Amino acid sequence: MIDRIADETLSRIRERGTYRSLRELSGPHGTRVVLNGKEVLLFAGSNYLDLSHHPAVVEGAAEAAREYGCAAGGSRLISGNLELHEAFEAEIAEFTGCESALLFNSGYAANLGLIPALVGENDFVVSDQLNHASIIDGVRLSRAQPRVFPHGDVAAFDKLLSEISGGDANILVPLDGVFSMDGDIAPLRDMVEIAHRHGAMVLLDDAHGTGTLGEGGRGSAAHCGVMHEVDIHLGNLAKGLGSFGAFVAGPAVLRDLLVNVARSFIFTCALPPPQVGAARAALQTLAEEPWRRWKLQANAARLRERLAGFGIDTAPSTTHIVPVILGDNARTMAVCEALLDEGFYVQGIRHPSVPLGTARLRITPMATHSEDEIDALASAVARTVERFPAESA
Ligand SMILES: Cc1ncc(COP(=O)(O)O)c(C=O)c1O
Repeated sequence: MIDRIADETLSRIRERGTYRSLRELSGPHGTRVVLNGKEVLLFAGSNYLDLSHHPAVVEGAAEAAREYGCAAGGSRLISGNLELHEAFEAEIAEFTGCESALLFNSGYAANLGLIPALVGENDFVVSDQLNHASIIDGVRLSRAQPRVFPHGDVAAFDKLLSEISGGDANILVPLDGVFSMDGDIAPLRDMVEIAHRHGAMVLLDDAHGTGTLGEGGRGSAAHCGVMHEVDIHLGNLAKGLGSFGAFVAGPAVLRDLLVNVARSFIFTCALPPPQVGAARAALQTLAEEPWRRWKLQANAARLRERLAGFGIDTAPSTTHIVPVILGDNARTMAVCEALLDEGFYVQGIRHPSVPLGTARLRITPMATHSEDEIDALASAVARTVERFPAESA
């Protein structure tokens, strides 16, 4: 039976040109990785600040493992709540300027627990068309009524809210800070103001902004000057911070609510001590080494500029996620493979991660790439895109 199910589904996926397979890397996840025995320059990760193997971060993990072991040994509510979790949550609360914070085992799990904790059947969620899959899945689980507006369209957002506000329903507005496949930042200042004017709560999922943007690496809310206006901050520990897990920060009563009702917090083992230790050290490193954040954004700006010089459009990116939209699945993957042959690992992204017909290269420079490496990549992308013109697919 499994053969038949797999065969039917995988044939459909192959026909659509969206079949995926895993690539195995060896060695640490720095700017250079070994892929199929060959060293390549990595422009496809989310270890943006190159903190995952930073000596202080590795030592943070090792120290926590020595002191607490490699597992929390239970869920947070049943024997797994370590002083380490609580201490780190207090640090995150301070970092975000919120009353409290709560750790989740991933950003995906956080959205799955948080959204149903805030809204239910009779409520609304007003969501950007390009919001992350974990927000969409959290909304589905909540059974709240989704209302979707075109990407970044502030006027449509306002109109949607005015149609549904004023009644008894609770309204949640989940916003991606940095859009993970486009690299643009949501117009947070306008959206937060509009959402509040209509009495809606704002949840900012800043998976790709945590550590990488804004004063002190506090993310896209800090970048847009709305750190204190956002009602709920969802930050990530697995990308800019080089560890694993996520946090939700907000008023103390929110933490209390989540501990009591968020199923993805309650029914799972607590985040392992080494990951907490690593994330704690990374948070401290953010403050000590702001150059990482600056260099990341400088590298991204250089890459966008170099690509523009070759006539390659990277709109709408203004951050360290730099898309080159090629449209066609086969063309995108051909460019991706050709780049690998040239020694550059850039990920091709297809539907359902991006809308149909907008397959793209998702290029993610790191803080530790040299300018020469950025320039070499830009030339290789230009050469390769030209080798596979649109009509060749
Ligand atoms: C906006 C957003 N939210 C949540 C996630 C999921 O985070 P995690 O990888 O920690 O599950 C991602 C991952 O890319 C994301 O882009």
